[in-house]
Amino acid sequence: MEAALKVVVTGGSGLLGVAVIRELVGAGATVLSLDRKPHPDGHRPTWTCDLRDAAQLYQACVGADSVVHLAAHIAPNLTSDTSTFNENVSMTYNVLKAAQDNRVRRVVLASSVAAYGYIYGPTDLLPHFLPLTEEHPLAASDPYGLSKQIGELLGDAFARRGAMSVVSLRLPGINYDPTFERIQSFMSDPAYRKSGFWTYVDARDAARAFRLSVEKTLEGHRIYNIAAPSSNMREPTVDLVRRFLPGLSDIREISDKNWSGMSSARAASELGFVAEHVWEQILR
Ligand SMILES: NC(=O)c1ccc[n+]([C@@H]2O[C@H](COP(=O)([O-])OP(=O)(O)OC[C@H]3O[C@@H](n4cnc5c(N)ncnc54)[C@H](O)[C@@H]3O)[C@@H](O)[C@H]2O)c1
Repeated sequence: MEAALKVVVTGGSGLLGVAVIRELVGAGATVLSLDRKPHPDGHRPTWTCDLRDAAQLYQACVGADSVVHLAAHIAPNLTSDTSTFNENVSMTYNVLKAAQDNRVRRVVLASSVAAYGYIYGPTDLLPHFLPLTEEHPLAASDPYGLSKQIGELLGDAFARRGAMSVVSLRLPGINYDPTFERIQSFMSDPAYRKSGFWTYVDARDAARAFRLSVEKTLEGHRIYNIAAPSSNMREPTVDLVRRFLPGLSDIREISDKNWSGMSSARAASELGFVAEHVWEQILR
């Protein structure tokens, strides 16, 4: 990365924010972190601010090359539905608006597998096909998934306006435990993760995907699935699909391995993203 490139990271004190800032600083960027909480490792500069306040965001983006937007209510049911939806959507709008007004080159948004609509959606809803690619229709119905789906629409709209390009990364459940013990703890219960189609990504890989999204030459609004290539289960995924999603007939991966329910092929080809941290390296 070009030395001393200024990147603003929202939600920089959160779990993913810590990993993303570490990755960007390691690549030579100057990072301004924005969060309503202090940074757990004392990263400087960190501005304590509320991203619902557009004026603070405008000030933060002065002179920035890129903005990585991570701050959000990160699931439904952590607060009221209206707060989850309204605050997530307005924070994303405020970030894109402040970035565009400051002639920022690139905004990278944290989207989610929840935008597809299954993970927090009706339990009998089936995907059209697996593994999910970025072309799969979005069908969110919960306030969190909807806020991510609309965040992507905002990405389309701002990229359409002109010079600024936008990247949305659709992340599955993030693994923050390098021992992978948490993943091991639910391997005996494949039903528990079926609506996420047994996908995950390690935080270190997700952080690399954000750095690549800042660095690459891209135009318009690009959307990428970012997942580990294998599932968080030991069984062949095709067996899990037949057992837990019996109405799903369009299975587009024929191998008998534990492939991920989300394909990151587009990110591999356009960003050069390949996940490096997978449970199979650690667990036996
Ligand atoms: N954790 C996952 O498994 C997962 C999966 C898919 C997508 N994502 C997305 O990744 C992003 C980061 O998630 P995370 O795991 O680091 O969550 P996190 O809760 O650890 O971090 C979110 C951060 O945003 C900050 N924040 C929230 N509202 C704010 C506001 N109004 N003003 C300022 N700061 C505010 C919080 O203080 C927190 O530090 C989120 O956008 C989330 O939706 C997470």
